[in-house]
Amino acid sequence: MARTSKKQTALKFRGEWEYAPAPESKDHIRLEKKYGLFINGKFSEPRSGKYFDSVNPADETLLASVAEAGAEDVDLAVTAARSAYEKTWSKMPARERGKYIYRIARLMQERARELAIIESMDGGKPIRESRDIDIPLAAAHFFYYAGWADKLEYAVPGRTAGPLGVAGQIIPWNFPLLMAAWKIAPALAAGNTVVIKPAETTPLTALKLAEIIRDADLPSGVVNIITGAGSTGSALVNHPGIQKVAFTGSTEVGKMIQKTLAGTDKKYTLELGGKAANIIFEDAAIDQAVEGIINGIFFNQGHVCCAGSRLFVQEPVAAKVIRKLKDRMETLLVGDPLDKNTDVGAINSKAQLDKIHKYLKIGVNEGGEMYQTSCKLPSRGFWCRPTLFTDVSQSSRIVQEEIFGPVLSVQTFRTVEEAIEKANNIPYGLSGGVWTDKGSKIFRVTSQIRAGVIWANTYNKFDPVSPFGGYKESGMGREGGLHGLLPYIQTYSN
Ligand code: NAI
Ligand code: MG
Repeated sequence: MARTSKKQTALKFRGEWEYAPAPESKDHIRLEKKYGLFINGKFSEPRSGKYFDSVNPADETLLASVAEAGAEDVDLAVTAARSAYEKTWSKMPARERGKYIYRIARLMQERARELAIIESMDGGKPIRESRDIDIPLAAAHFFYYAGWADKLEYAVPGRTAGPLGVAGQIIPWNFPLLMAAWKIAPALAAGNTVVIKPAETTPLTALKLAEIIRDADLPSGVVNIITGAGSTGSALVNHPGIQKVAFTGSTEVGKMIQKTLAGTDKKYTLELGGKAANIIFEDAAIDQAVEGIINGIFFNQGHVCCAGSRLFVQEPVAAKVIRKLKDRMETLLVGDPLDKNTDVGAINSKAQLDKIHKYLKIGVNEGGEMYQTSCKLPSRGFWCRPTLFTDVSQSSRIVQEEIFGPVLSVQTFRTVEEAIEKANNIPYGLSGGVWTDKGSKIFRVTSQIRAGVIWANTYNKFDPVSPFGGYKESGMGREGGLHGLLPYIQTYSN
């Protein structure tokens, strides 16, 4: 009797037992038709007079029209931040600063459901992730750094710590509110004021955060939120009134920023691209590893700088791992980000989808064997099937370059040395993963792979206390934990 493959079983199962849709209600979501810039504690029309649209990538509907800050607006925001820095925030007792930051954290928790839904609507990520990961972690970062506000003397023992001034911060679209928290919370705790620019495709949770900041009665001008695209970001980076730049985004823009800042006295941290390797040894718990690999690359549609986009499997278990990966991929539910069943949501923008498609073609043209799941994709919006490539080589572009989509490449290895060498053969060094039963292999691999974070027998675990950041072209500086506080302070001898 012919054996029914797991894939066929999954399909049959789906045909007969579709999950009942369980969409999160968005009736209670209140979005303005038009958002101004949040400068000096209030929303105001942009001097530029320009607006752009933020759409829902899952159905291409317009969510809101958002101000595009021009050079004059950026200047107003920096001036407001400077004045707040000098007059209130840097003068305030540290304990009082801490109280404001705690208040922001609590208000985020209170409005967590609303924030999660807006995050999923604006960016396309599954509600399960925005609800369970993005928003709770964002609040956790405010709680964590609030605790540092009155303990700076313990951050740098033997020295006196003080703020830098105004921080200009630019964030990407993959974890909009979480990235805002990573940037704003340590800056405020150390006594700096902030001008932050969210990404142009996902500005809405940052604008909701502006409401929270207003409700928290944070003194005007301490946090200014300006929306816009690359030219707004560039005007911020180049503004002479900021003392520190914190950027998360593409390596290409990161390099440009680094060049712009060379020779100035602005401090900077850059968190850039990645191309993480996951390494599965033959002694690993295979099912657990497969689940971790799936999470590592298909989580958030692969829009993750630390996505485990390269997989290295030890030869004896390679065939088995690939078969199990394909079976598991087939059961992933792709679709409505607001549905609680959804595993893989919408690609963030048309531009990002085009980029992913370009890489799929490159992969096939280079001789890779492409496997995509058979799921039905919604007719509107930006979608990509979970994709796996085998028969790729170290020099393949899909192995070397950051795709930032749900695309996994699989290669094999025989020895530990080979796995380490292959994993390191890349311009990036942000993260990695190792799957094995042997502690000795974990220590060997984690000490020899040049990447900021390496998870062992798990993946994509975050905590406000752990520093995060890259080697090589993945950037410089660390965010999170004490390490993430230090780039926002300067020290003096006692
Ligand atoms: P991007 O680097 O252009 O955008 C990130 C942020 O930088 C956005 O807020 C953007 O408005 C701003 N920006 C753009 N040009 C700027 C400039 N000249 N000066 C200052 N700020 C500027 O990334 P994009 O175009 O959205 O995505 C392209 C690729 O970058 C992705 O496919 C992915 O490979 C990578 N990327 C990596 C991220 C990460 O977390 N490491 C996040 C986002 C994108
Ligand atoms: Mg959007």
